[in-house]
Amino acid sequence: MATIRSLLIGTGSYVPDFVLTNDILEELVDTNDEWIVKRTGIRERRIGPGMTTWQMGVEAGRKALQSAKVPPEEIDMLILSTCTPDTYSPTVSGYVQEALGLKKAAAVDINACCTGFCYASDIADCYIKAGKAKTILVVSAETLHRITDYTDRGTCVLFGDAAGAAVYRACEDENEQSGILSSFMAADGSGADYLYMEALPVEEDPLHSDRKFSEKNRFLKMQGAAVVRFTASAVPHAIDMALQRAGLTAADVDWVVPHQANLRILQIIAQKFGIPNEKIYVNMDRYGNTSSASIPLCLDEMNDKGLLKKGQVIVCTGFGGGLTYGAFVLRL
Ligand code: COA
Repeated sequence: MATIRSLLIGTGSYVPDFVLTNDILEELVDTNDEWIVKRTGIRERRIGPGMTTWQMGVEAGRKALQSAKVPPEEIDMLILSTCTPDTYSPTVSGYVQEALGLKKAAAVDINACCTGFCYASDIADCYIKAGKAKTILVVSAETLHRITDYTDRGTCVLFGDAAGAAVYRACEDENEQSGILSSFMAADGSGADYLYMEALPVEEDPLHSDRKFSEKNRFLKMQGAAVVRFTASAVPHAIDMALQRAGLTAADVDWVVPHQANLRILQIIAQKFGIPNEKIYVNMDRYGNTSSASIPLCLDEMNDKGLLKKGQVIVCTGFGGGLTYGAFVLRL
């Protein structure tokens, strides 16, 4: 039986217009540009007050369909990753499916926090390889400003809003060497509390409580140093496993596209694998941490700049709440 490969045939992204600079944050909390740039590498991020996650997802998805030159009715499945859904029901993907006119697409939401795009791409690859879908749209959309506490200097300097998207298509050509070559997805729930935000409160007696949502858990809480310690070992392990499964080494890699969360992890990847900094794509200086949208946002920016070339090997790696982490290897 012919091997089916999942080719990346289109990318898209969207960021809102409002630029939240370090100067503006200085007015909100006790921080300064020098501290933020030195510790995080972030100079500005975008936020879209009044915008929903699905609206951003639609913009990124539309651009990805155009880039792939695929009409909406050819999409068999929409996988939408978000940790900032507008609604628990209906799904966010339901809104996006309707707005983009994906008439025959199955549509599902997934939440793997900042690893969401890696997990969604892996699920897309599984459906394509199993012959259950030919063309899949992955959309990762996040409105993190809605869960960010702008009185907490430890977190508010990090996050921004964005959406990114990718179209994967099945290819059965024996001579085709491109596509998703391998993946490694993992999780370690022992660090679940390091990134925490309550969705619905657990009530002991719903009939006799006043049913107030607890304010203190309305925003994302983070133990930053613990997250850095975790990612320092988890991310290199994920990249190692994904490369091994693809039968490749770091020397074969043209680009590493990491989740844009902290500078430290970029340095660790460079040192551990001997990959030069120029091959590790970074745009967190302009967008901050946009959770699951960050990797497809990078891919689309690279595509627009003409940096992505046929035959190149790309390693995408994500990590975040759960704690989840993972990597996949893609040949363009
Ligand atoms: N401006 C100025 N000072 C700040 C600050 C800010 N925005 N945020 C924290 N500080 C202060 C702290 O209050 C602390 O002060 P103290 O020593 O007087 O108590 C000091 O800086 C050091 O705080 P700490 O949290 O230990 O800093 P850090 O070196 O760990 O850097 C992060 C903080 C957030 C940059 C870093 O932990 C990080 O990158 N974490 C991982 C983020 C991440 O990857 N998150 C998402 C995963 S998806």
